[in-house]
Amino acid sequence: MAQTIFVLNGPNLNLLGKRQPEIYGSDTLADVEAMCRKAVPDGVEIDFRQSNHEGVLVDWIQEARDVAEAIVINPAAYTHTSVAVLDALSAYDGPVVEVHISDVHKREKFRHHSYVSMRADEVIVGRGVQGYVDGLAWAVAKLG
Ligand code: DQA
Repeated sequence: MAQTIFVLNGPNLNLLGKRQPEIYGSDTLADVEAMCRKAVPDGVEIDFRQSNHEGVLVDWIQEARDVAEAIVINPAAYTHTSVAVLDALSAYDGPVVEVHISDVHKREKFRHHSYVSMRADEVIVGRGVQGYVDGLAWAVAKLG
C-alpha cells in the first residue's frame, strides 16, 4: 500500500512566482508540486493542495488523520495567527513538517512567532522552494 503525504499550502501561495519574487522566487506553485512529486520514492504519494481559507486548511488537516502518514505544510500567513491550524495539527498523530520559503526570522517581527512550530516535528525556513523537497525527504526518512 502506498504511503500518502499531504503537502498543504496556505493563503497567497497560489500567487507564487508572481508574488514578491524578490522574496519568494520565480517558481510557481505548479513548479513546486512537480518538484515534490519527483522528490519522493516509489510507494509514496503526494496529495498537494493550496487554499486561501483557514477553515479549509483545518478540514484538510482533519482529513489527513484518516488518510495521510505525514503532513508537510506551509501555512503562510496563518503560521503567525492561527490557533485553529495549530489545534488541528495537534489532533494529528503523524509527523508534521513546517516549511517557509523565506527566512521568516530575518523578516518583520510579526513573522518571528509561529503557532505551527509549537506542534511541528521539523521546521525548515529560508531555503527557497527547496525547503519543500527537504521537508519531504525528512518526512520520508521518518516514515522509514
Ligand atoms: C511564508 C512566510 C509567511 O510569513 C508569509 O505570510 C507567507 C509565506 C514563506 O513561505 O516564506 O505567505 O510562509
